[in-house]
Amino acid sequence: MRTYSRITGTGSALPQRAVSNAELAVELAQRGIETSDDWIVSRTGIRQRFIASADCSTTDLAVDAARKALEMAGVTADDVDLIVLATSTPDQVFPSTACLVQARLGIRGAAAFDVQAVCSGFVYALTVADAMIRTGTYRRALVIGAEIFSRILDWTDRTTCVLFGDGAGAVVLESSIEPGLLSCRLHADGSQAKILCAAGRVDSGQIVGDPFLRMDGQAVFKLAVNVLDSSAREVLADAKLDVTAIDWLIPHQANVRILSATARKLDLPDSRVIVTVDQHGNTSAASVPLALDVAVRDGRITRGQHLVLQGVGGGFTWGSVLLRF
Ligand code: ACO
Repeated sequence: MRTYSRITGTGSALPQRAVSNAELAVELAQRGIETSDDWIVSRTGIRQRFIASADCSTTDLAVDAARKALEMAGVTADDVDLIVLATSTPDQVFPSTACLVQARLGIRGAAAFDVQAVCSGFVYALTVADAMIRTGTYRRALVIGAEIFSRILDWTDRTTCVLFGDGAGAVVLESSIEPGLLSCRLHADGSQAKILCAAGRVDSGQIVGDPFLRMDGQAVFKLAVNVLDSSAREVLADAKLDVTAIDWLIPHQANVRILSATARKLDLPDSRVIVTVDQHGNTSAASVPLALDVAVRDGRITRGQHLVLQGVGGGFTWGSVLLRF
């Protein structure tokens, strides 16, 4: 009998401090940087973001989200045999944040590793966990996206620092005879690495190169809009489904203009797109599982619906997962 993977629980976590555009504008003005709520809302749709305090780690947010997902799935940490965690802001060079989460949850022996695909990270992690479960070797995975992007932002660069926020989202993915994940497709184009990068590294006890996120916003915008539409069509074609079968599109939450353009190209009404970027900003690998959890908990997403989850970001990377919830 064919084995599928299926999401049985979702969870998310945000730092305590929400920072509105107006508050951010005041903070940036103190550094001589000019921005405004009007500019940020009209260009991005972002109204606020959550910023982690100095004592909050990526692991803290990931553990919080994972516990909520386990609770919704009705399972305990002991039942987990795989942790795949997507992040570009790990707490340490190594061990992986997945291992730190494993220890905090008191899980022993389960496989645990990080996936690094920036804003596509969660979709990459979900695809990897799905493949591992379908082999029959693993039964129950925690798949997590967790980020503290505020620590790699140059707070004197208004073209990037207003866009991002911190957070985490998680799902429990279990082996099932019913689908489940129907199609996963991933892509990358490393020749576009420079349009979105944090190029610095630790070398001989020093940070060498630029440690901050840098982005060519317009190049990213154009690429994102082009690939999200074709990527959604690719997973639908795999499952022999039409766009009309999509109950909810959950793209990476970078910018409402990117979300609307993608919906338009797919001929999908905006009302079928989950949007949380207004509340969370761009939380990179955390954005898709955060948006998923919000819409599951507020009752919009219900069992049996078809969802398309989409990642796009640094690398350049992109991909989609089509699933029956
Ligand atoms: N506040 C006020 N003014 C600003 C700000 C700011 N925060 N940032 C830039 N500006 C100014 C610029 O200096 C420029 O001024 P000028 O005309 O005097 O030179 C003007 O606004 C227009 O700048 P543009 O860069 O042309 O603005 P654009 O309309 O392209 O919007 C943005 C910029 C929002 C970054 C857009 O390109 C975009 O959304 N790109 C997609 C990138 C994205 O969302 N990335 C997230 C990470 S990638 C990912 O997750 C896939």
